[in-house]
Amino acid sequence: MGNGLILGIETSCDETAAAVVERGERTASSVVASQIATHARYGGVVPELASREHLRAIVPVARAAMDQAGASYNDLDAIAVTAGPGLAGALLVGITYAKALAFANRLPLIGVNHLEGHIHAVLLREREEHNAAINDEPALALVVSGGHTHLFLARPQGSLWSYDLIGRTVDDAAGEAYDKVAKLLGLGYPGGPWIDALAQFGDPLAVPFSFAQIKAKAHLQGKVPRTKNAVTSPIGDLNSHFLFSFSGIKTAVLRYVEVHGMRTEAERRANLLYPPGDDQSGDAARPSESKREALALCSQPTLDLIASFQHAVIGDLMKKTFAAAEQLGVGRILVTGGVAANRELRERFGNEAMARGLGIAFPSRALSTDNAAMIAAAAWPRFVAGQFASENLSADPALRLA
Ligand code: KG4
Ligand code: ZN
Repeated sequence: MGNGLILGIETSCDETAAAVVERGERTASSVVASQIATHARYGGVVPELASREHLRAIVPVARAAMDQAGASYNDLDAIAVTAGPGLAGALLVGITYAKALAFANRLPLIGVNHLEGHIHAVLLREREEHNAAINDEPALALVVSGGHTHLFLARPQGSLWSYDLIGRTVDDAAGEAYDKVAKLLGLGYPGGPWIDALAQFGDPLAVPFSFAQIKAKAHLQGKVPRTKNAVTSPIGDLNSHFLFSFSGIKTAVLRYVEVHGMRTEAERRANLLYPPGDDQSGDAARPSESKREALALCSQPTLDLIASFQHAVIGDLMKKTFAAAEQLGVGRILVTGGVAANRELRERFGNEAMARGLGIAFPSRALSTDNAAMIAAAAWPRFVAGQFASENLSADPALRLA
């Protein structure tokens, strides 16, 4: 064993990322090249464009991660790469490059599940900020991102972790709802950070959105849930109290906008924030400026709608997560994935955990969204256990964690 350094590579969706992490507990570098500007004008990730952008970015991003870590390939113990779930073409870019690096430098290759990566983003932060001992308790992990809203019971088993699926969305992921609602309100892409920034200016109780109890059976009549990652885990055996559904609230917001004559305002906002034909007007081009601009372009009823949407989504995530924690008798909760960057979410989950005497942990805000440090961190226990990928490692868009 060398220095315990692993180079992680992540290309499952719209971020090209590389990072060097030491023993799953110290981030030596973490580089993320976002494709936001590429996809913003489409209001969502365009798979073909994602693969093309990964191809362009992967070599410089990996090089930057190595440079910033002050490492050479001789210093590494392994290369880790996201094997799935995600976009097939996007995953393939990372996997092919990781294989080439591993082969050329005679390093073992480790395939990592993207969701396990998100969970290890929290564990990595805990190890970096506190001591490693608190990592060794079972935890309920809520992975809440643009592609997933999944609850796992995560348990340490020797140096490795095991995961049981406890709950999941039957349709859209929470982040997907954020993105769709932001789009229909004429805000930027991805929608989460925009709604996060604007919600504080509205009344969260102005519009009483509600979530109906999901009947698991209705979703089981031979039908597959509609979310793009639905195939990653079956819902048959899950307690219906721990199932999520976020497609209804998106429709409710849409109807509210129509009924209250807010569509013209939204279209005007979209045109001003994203002038047609202007390639540079992505969120990445001028982030905080655009959000200040957006605030000035939002009427009070729109701000109230935004605040109410966010309040309802977070309330639903909390209700089911804390109910699952209680039923399972776990003492701590990990919340991770892009939506875990949300300020109101962190505050309300934190307060509720404190009131219930539960531990709670989040990744750093930067490691909430997709990155490669979490992939390199998740690979460490596999490295210790000698779980390496074969040379046939291929992209699995529907890879399951539990
Ligand atoms: O984890 P991630 O980068 O990619 C996936 O694995 O899906 O998550 C991206 C998602 C997007 O839907 C984005 O709108 C959401 O995370 N997101 C947020 C925030 N930052 C990103 N949602 C709410 N509040 C935020 N601050
Ligand atoms: Zn992710």
